[in-house]
Amino acid sequence: MAGAGISTPSGIPDFRSPGSGLYDNLQQYDLPYAEAIFEIDYFHHNPRPFFALAKELYPGNYQPNLTHYFVRLLQDKGQLLRMYTQNIDGLERLAGIPPERLVEAHGTFATATCTVCRRTYEGQDLRLDVMNGTVPKCPTCKGVVKPDIVFFGEELPHNFFKYIRDFPLADLLIIMGTSLEVEPFASLAGAVRSSVPRLLINRDSVGPFTWGTLRPTDVTQLGDVVSGVGALAQEIGWTQELEALMAQVNRRQKNKNNSSAS
Ligand code: OAD
Repeated sequence: MAGAGISTPSGIPDFRSPGSGLYDNLQQYDLPYAEAIFEIDYFHHNPRPFFALAKELYPGNYQPNLTHYFVRLLQDKGQLLRMYTQNIDGLERLAGIPPERLVEAHGTFATATCTVCRRTYEGQDLRLDVMNGTVPKCPTCKGVVKPDIVFFGEELPHNFFKYIRDFPLADLLIIMGTSLEVEPFASLAGAVRSSVPRLLINRDSVGPFTWGTLRPTDVTQLGDVVSGVGALAQEIGWTQELEALMAQVNRRQKNKNNSSAS
């Protein structure tokens, strides 16, 4: 299970860290309150603040970091049952975690839907408008086209409910970079069998790790997530493979950038 804290090392602010988190830095959008930027009723009233933010977060501006590649390595080694992420930055996909192993519980910028006629679009179709600061409109009905991000007041994607089968099967749950403040995602932490170790790698203790509901098999690694995941990789002897994987993907990315520049 992951949240915005795994992407802060890539340069993307999280939501709730005091001072640096997004909810403390939305003054310029003149919102009635910070969370309104992700509320569906507010979006229908005024989509501009969300699209201003979307311009910042749109996939392509940021690169995955060691935490994303660690999950990719789990997958390469046949150890990943599923990654449940709340993040909408697309860095899991960029790190090569296959879409079928991913549950993007709060949606994705990869696809979009017209809020009026429900016509569907690829995220790429909106890119130009979003980058130009224009609210994307449906050519068919002129409705606002909204990236398939889950707003407060909207249902989670269908594949979120895979958790019903996945969590009882897990033999280890790693939770990284999330405040576990948003439901129903947060409750997934309680959905593994009671004997299953839960490892929290986060700057601060959160959710069931603080409420006095700790299980005897729970483990907390507090501090920076890259250091915590790096220490885990070291402990299990994966450091070299992890570095090689990152170098390989970076090389590919550079070649791709060079060939699209020429
Ligand atoms: P939050 O901002 O609520 O929590 C991020 C957590 O990561 C906090 O506990 C931070 O201390 C921790 N953190 C940040 N950077 C870190 C680092 N470098 N190393 C270790 N820990 C770090 O983000 P989420 O839990 O993802 O919803 O927020 C959940 C949802 O709330 C989001 O998906 C979003 C928001 O409203 C939607 O977009 C619908």
